[in-house]
Amino acid sequence: MKIYLASGNLNKKREMQEIFSEHTIVIPKDEGIEFDPEETGTDFYQNSMIKAKALWDIVHCPVIADDSGISVNALNGVPGVWSSRYAGPDFHKGKPDGSKISQEEQNKFLIQELNQAIEKGVDSTYFPNGERSAYYSCSMVLMINPTKFYIAQENFEGTLIEDVKDSRGQFGFGYDPIFFLPQFGKTAAEITPDEKNAISHRGKACAVIKKILENIKF
Ligand code: IMP
Repeated sequence: MKIYLASGNLNKKREMQEIFSEHTIVIPKDEGIEFDPEETGTDFYQNSMIKAKALWDIVHCPVIADDSGISVNALNGVPGVWSSRYAGPDFHKGKPDGSKISQEEQNKFLIQELNQAIEKGVDSTYFPNGERSAYYSCSMVLMINPTKFYIAQENFEGTLIEDVKDSRGQFGFGYDPIFFLPQFGKTAAEITPDEKNAISHRGKACAVIKKILENIKF
């Protein structure tokens, strides 16, 4: 079956095609469809629904959409849905002119912000991995039509390293070189893509949606 993926990202398309191998994954670009909905949601679920509905309105076929990001517990969830736009303590939701800073700067700023919060004092009673706790989240929607849809939201827990100079790893992307996995003693950029897919927010959300797809009737 043909399933549209609400993304412009070729890497995501390849990943999804591998996971949903019995289906044909198509992104808007493949069919010359202009697709750049405004992500106005304040959580991952809202943004994944915005993307799914926007694409469904164009194609009227089953759509998969996702939204993901990293949240730092001691910073009350910053940067969260704004992870790709985060530009430091003054610009949690991105710069007003829309310009972006490099991923290295994003990583440096996020560690600095966390270190400053810890210096001031953090109550980490309910944090899973102590005061440096952080987690990735991914909300994934399979929208058959706007009133029939399935949602999976999964998390991937870890901590932020103490100094950006200790960033490590050749795999992954984004915040992975500063995202430490206590159970592996490695960053998320040091584990292989297969290892990451088995435990990551996106990998687990995909697994749930795959199970649903295998079991629904159209
Ligand atoms: P989106 O889901 O494509 O909108 O991605 C949001 C942003 O969250 C990315 O640009 C990254 O900054 C961050 N992010 C989401 N998932 C990951 C991950 O698995 N590793 C590293 N960064 C991630």
